[in-house]
Amino acid sequence: MRVSIIGGGYVGLVSAACMAGLGHSVMLIEIDENKVEAINSAKSPIYEKGLAELLSAHVGRNLLATTSYENLARSDVSLICVGTPPLPDGSADLSMIESASTLIGKALANKEKYHVVAVKSTVPPGTTQNLVMPAVQKHTGKNAGKIGFVMNPEFLREGLAVHDFMKPDRIVIGSSDVRAGDVFESVYQGIDAPIIRTGLIAAEMIKYASNAFLATKISFSNEIGNVCKKMGIDVYEVMSGVGLDHRINPHFLNAGVGFGGSCFPKDVSALISLAEKMDIAPVLLRSVMDVNEKQPQKIVEILLRRVGDLKAKRIAVLGLAFKNDTDDVRESRAIPVIKELVGRGALVAAYDPKANASMSAILPEIEYCGSASHALTNADACLVLTEWPEFADLDKEFDLMRSRVIIDGRRVLSCRDAEGICW
Ligand code: UGA
Repeated sequence: MRVSIIGGGYVGLVSAACMAGLGHSVMLIEIDENKVEAINSAKSPIYEKGLAELLSAHVGRNLLATTSYENLARSDVSLICVGTPPLPDGSADLSMIESASTLIGKALANKEKYHVVAVKSTVPPGTTQNLVMPAVQKHTGKNAGKIGFVMNPEFLREGLAVHDFMKPDRIVIGSSDVRAGDVFESVYQGIDAPIIRTGLIAAEMIKYASNAFLATKISFSNEIGNVCKKMGIDVYEVMSGVGLDHRINPHFLNAGVGFGGSCFPKDVSALISLAEKMDIAPVLLRSVMDVNEKQPQKIVEILLRRVGDLKAKRIAVLGLAFKNDTDDVRESRAIPVIKELVGRGALVAAYDPKANASMSAILPEIEYCGSASHALTNADACLVLTEWPEFADLDKEFDLMRSRVIIDGRRVLSCRDAEGICW
């Protein structure tokens, strides 16, 4: 199939590379010329396991990036993968969705053959039907053939996005009509996964509800963890007993410093805002966010109890990315923690295997170190904020500290004297 993808961000680029990997002929439309140039030289603008290999195998063969919509009508299916960042009130900013839809509509003006426009971006329920469809149709012109609409949410975890694309738990295809859904299904030919066919709005809600539920599991574990800590018991032991109930399952029950990233905080906030607009009080979802905002304070409270006044104390922070295997620091729990430390006069020495550069763009005032040992040297305390596997074996390195005060926010360390945030 010929597939055009609008937006070369994390979802668009991974989808483009994976669809090329499935054998489709893929055109990636991206406004940023530097990104287009990088992609066409098979250089990935983001770090994502397996992506570089896919780009080098398919760029120049069946994958091309461009800034122009000119050849979009030659594709059979177009996927909208542009960003939907949060507005100050927590609702999703749909301006990029609207402009992409308008440009698709213009590009399809007078195309006679059937075409499917699919939304992959995470959008509030109702967006495909009420915004994308009219924006596309307004510009396609009376002579244009029929256009089908699909909403196909993504469930890609950063760091594992290529794996999640190729081996998904399920594929959700919401469609305006049966033909659109049928045509779109063939995009995923070759992937072995259950396919759920729904209407457009239900597909949009499946995405929000999935992320909100996963975030709820994490905040639930964190709340139980805070109680466990006070009682002197280990929340990981507790959750290992809870998670074996197949109705619950063991995943996403890891207590710690909370969830970050570009998805959970944004999507839960957008769902809260959607419910409020409909006069529904989203009590549970508000609490999920509340617990998450408080976890970074918890780790600072433990630090204060252990070392007292932080003025001029050197605090090593290990882990800046919002999770391991990524250089992404969006909504990372390290941000509120470091801000609090700096506000209290601490000297922060930070180290992350991949995210030093991205964090220094946001917090330039702290020291960035090339290794954990460097950050730990002469430190008065250490906080671990990202679950990087390379931190698991740290032990002797902590002897470089002025005092071995180690607080683990992610249950990643194996040394015996680390204190956990919830254990
Ligand atoms: C999340 C979802 O897992 C994907 O299914 C979804 O497609 C994606 O959002 C999206 O909407 O695009 P991602 O943001 O990459 O993926 O990261 P996760 O692996 O879900 O982790 C999110 C945060 O939760 C991280 O900060 C992580 O450290 C934290 N977390 C995760 C916990 O604190 N405890 C856990 O048990 C699991």
